[in-house]
Amino acid sequence: MVTAYDYTMALLVDEAGVDAILVGDSLGMVVQGLPNTIPVTLEEIAYHGRAVQRAHVRAHVVGDLPFMSYQVSPAQAVESGGRLMKEGLFESVKLEGGHEYAEHVYRLVRSGIPVMGHIGLMPQTVHTMGGFKVQGRGDEAEQRLLADARALEQAGAFAIVLEAIPPDVAARVTSELSVPTIGIGAGPVCDGQVLVCTDLLGLTGGKAPKFAKRFANLGEAAVRAVSEYISEVRDGSFPSAQHSYKPNRTESVIQATDSSERLQAFDEPLAIDFWN
Ligand code: KIV
Repeated sequence: MVTAYDYTMALLVDEAGVDAILVGDSLGMVVQGLPNTIPVTLEEIAYHGRAVQRAHVRAHVVGDLPFMSYQVSPAQAVESGGRLMKEGLFESVKLEGGHEYAEHVYRLVRSGIPVMGHIGLMPQTVHTMGGFKVQGRGDEAEQRLLADARALEQAGAFAIVLEAIPPDVAARVTSELSVPTIGIGAGPVCDGQVLVCTDLLGLTGGKAPKFAKRFANLGEAAVRAVSEYISEVRDGSFPSAQHSYKPNRTESVIQATDSSERLQAFDEPLAIDFWN
């Protein structure tokens, strides 16, 4: 599974062959530049879900239930989940939390809304966890994680994300559950893995979690490409004849010195030769 938040990224990750696309509330940090996911709204998740679905992806598309869109009660969870399915065109929803949300998961599933669970590091509760930290350390924490995973499974979750937990704990959870686990910072013994698309593609700079392997450096490539564009515009080598339409009068293009005249000369009234 990989996250995607828009049409273009959805097309790319789907073409690469991912099984599932997550429109995660990580969009708050990745797209909106927020310090955490807490302010993200249901409307925003739905908006990005519609953009992803316009790519007609083959992958299963999951939408995140954002902070305070489900925590209040099972009824609120069903209402919010229903809105994501109808307005965001999702095929399932994901929510953070363990046994305390088992009833919410049960109600969602009984209402026809498939649910993916999410335990371990749960970014929506970053302030109660005291920051972004590895979870499930020590016997007691490990037992709590196991109990949470079992509660979600029993409530009807079809898969469970395990975030930022020791690999042996993830392996134990995975072996004790019948539903698939999807790891992020949870080691190799999970049934699947998930990464945030911008981490995977190297589109973000600065501090990154240990688990966020860069499989490419597209951020650097993007900066290089835009710098080249700026240079070519400044030295006049772009746009060349290759990227311009056929002039009506060749001399007018060559002779025009004023830039507004040049733009007029390049204007092509016929759509027929518009595309590359
Ligand atoms: O919001 C998100 O992208 C997530 C993944 C990191 C699992 O919850």
